[in-house]
Amino acid sequence: MNTHLRDLVQETHLQKEDFIYPLFIKSGKNFKKEIESMPGVFQMSIDEAIKECESLKKLGLYSIILFGIPKTKDSIGSDALCEHGIIASAIKAIKEAHPDMFVVTDLCFCEYTDHGHCGILDMETESVNNDATLEILGQQAVIHAKAGADMIAPSGMMDGTIQALRTALDAAGFINLPLMAYSTKFASAYYGPFRDVAESSPSFGDRRTYQMNPANRREAINESIEDEKEGADILMIKPALAYMDIIRDVKDNTRLPLAVYNVSGEYAMLKAAQKAGLIDYEKVMMETLIGFKRAGADIIITYHAKEAAALL
Ligand code: PBG
Ligand code: ZN
Repeated sequence: MNTHLRDLVQETHLQKEDFIYPLFIKSGKNFKKEIESMPGVFQMSIDEAIKECESLKKLGLYSIILFGIPKTKDSIGSDALCEHGIIASAIKAIKEAHPDMFVVTDLCFCEYTDHGHCGILDMETESVNNDATLEILGQQAVIHAKAGADMIAPSGMMDGTIQALRTALDAAGFINLPLMAYSTKFASAYYGPFRDVAESSPSFGDRRTYQMNPANRREAINESIEDEKEGADILMIKPALAYMDIIRDVKDNTRLPLAVYNVSGEYAMLKAAQKAGLIDYEKVMMETLIGFKRAGADIIITYHAKEAAALL
């Protein structure tokens, strides 16, 4: 086929503007440590994150999502509830240095609790107390908002999160602050490397009581539609690669923008295959990313963002 015709009839396009790049913020200064299972991904201190934003902008990347690794963890995740906590401090510093960056925050408790679960536990049952967690999620969201976050992305999968956050944010005056819901989040082994970076592995049990069964398609659609009804502004499917059908299903059932999270294990697999000389890494990466768009993604949260932007 003539190459111009091929371009004219191309149905899907990948662009830098589609990407959100994850950053892992740790306390300290001049600290930058690569994660063994995720080459090219670092834990970094706030000053390093500010430098990182400089290089992201040079690549044409303006959207980031922040994860925090606090100095101390406890049973209720106090660092996340403090205006001087790691993420609140990071948002303030980054927005001050780079007002043109779009700063999204991941809202959850697993990185802040000593037990590594996504909320407060009931002591007798050792399971997450949904309603008590909604209460502190609201407080955490208002702290992020006051610090200057541009969008909040609750990732904990507690029931009623979106409605509770909308209420808490509106009451604090943040009526226009958008919520990107991790609306369909599967209990996935693909999060393995993330838990090394974020130091957030559950100390006992797993997340199956609040994350979804990978076998369920109708439930996957329902979960996202529930979040839309509660007032989410953007929906999300996570992980992405093993759930292309779900991306399409949800896309066909909503008029909201749809994000996908191309998670740590998906990135780590391609990186390992690259290192072993098994694949043409750049081509496989671009094919994977365009696949997400073809499946229905508008936004792609990906550790590949810098490499892909450099190629685009
Ligand atoms: C926290 C959270 C997780 C991820 C994003 N937010 C981990 C989890 O649910 O265990 C995973 C991201 C990745 O694997 O890259 N709730
Ligand atoms: Zn969590």
